[in-house]
Amino acid sequence: MENYEKNLDEACAKFRKILEDQLTRVENMKAQGDFTDYSAIDTIKIGVCGGDGIGPTITKEARRVLEFILADLVDLGKVEFKTIDGLTIENRIAAGKAIPDDVMAELKSCDIILKGPTTTPQKGDGMPNIESANVAMRKALDLFANIRPVKVPEEGINWTIFRENTEGGYAVGSSGFNVTEDLAVDFTVTTKQGSDRIARLAYDYARKNGLNRVSLVTKANVIKTTDGNFLEDCHKVADLYPEIITDEWYADIMTAKLVDKKRRRDFKVLLLPNLYGDIISDEAAEFQGGVGTAGCANIGKKYAMFEAIHGSAPRMVREGRAQYADPCSMLRASVMLLSHIGYQDRADKLERALDICSFEEKKLTVTGRAGGASCAEFGDYVMETLKKL
Ligand code: IPM
Ligand code: MG
Repeated sequence: MENYEKNLDEACAKFRKILEDQLTRVENMKAQGDFTDYSAIDTIKIGVCGGDGIGPTITKEARRVLEFILADLVDLGKVEFKTIDGLTIENRIAAGKAIPDDVMAELKSCDIILKGPTTTPQKGDGMPNIESANVAMRKALDLFANIRPVKVPEEGINWTIFRENTEGGYAVGSSGFNVTEDLAVDFTVTTKQGSDRIARLAYDYARKNGLNRVSLVTKANVIKTTDGNFLEDCHKVADLYPEIITDEWYADIMTAKLVDKKRRRDFKVLLLPNLYGDIISDEAAEFQGGVGTAGCANIGKKYAMFEAIHGSAPRMVREGRAQYADPCSMLRASVMLLSHIGYQDRADKLERALDICSFEEKKLTVTGRAGGASCAEFGDYVMETLKKL
């Protein structure tokens, strides 16, 4: 056996640092205030951050539609749009950071953020392996709940996925390390505070919307400590909502049940740790027409950010197809944004217009290629539809 003393000492020092950072995060969660009250803000500042790849194209369209819906409030000075440039892969590589400092400062100066997809480097693809901008933003702004609705009306599918957004495999996803040339480790993290706050949000949502089932999805049979604790803490919250049925699923069988047409309509609210939420939400969105049709809300106590659930599709840009990208993901995210800042009637109206355009009338279809409608044509179609409502 080789002498690994030095490797072990170095690994223990790195691990200690990770644990210290996580304990600081726990203290910060304990000290956290209440959710932002948007009705108390005189001018709600919406930061619009295009990202890269197809991001700027689809974000521009969502902004155009939002500006149309909020035109009277912009005139009254109650809402203001602010462009945030600079969250591109080139700038991020140049700064050597997931989010350059100046961009972060601008993000923090806004009350709410609409963000386009950003490119995420991965080991071996030739780019510096910086952390994903999404993941960094979720952590930096403590956006602990990633809420992803999926619906297919004709199949009775109406799911809302509550994905824990700051913990699990993502908490220190960029801090794993090689202990020796042969041995590498990554870490997954669960805290009592983290599980409790996402569970409360999911159960509150179920109660407010008259949904009588919350399904907990983990791999607690294998990942016994962290997933086990997540489950236990969710059950403690579930006890406060006796009218809601709580069921438990392992992530693998849940992926199977989501394709079971008879069973899947029973699901209403899914509550999951970060990584399972990531995987299951892509699968779920596929039934609705693909990830390009799905948006999400990233909610924290102080900040909130709304985005597509998909990536920046650099291939579409390379092949000259960016203008045919589907803006629906960002438009669905915009519905959630409107609702979050207190304009539920406008959110409902946009949702209704999107349902008409995507599921009912379907005068235009975006296919991602020439031949289908362009991103801007679809935006026009949504606004025409809105005018009739
Ligand atoms: C998502 C995405 C991100 C994630 C990627 C781009 C890092 O897949 O928002 O689901 O894994 O969370
Ligand atoms: Mg994903």
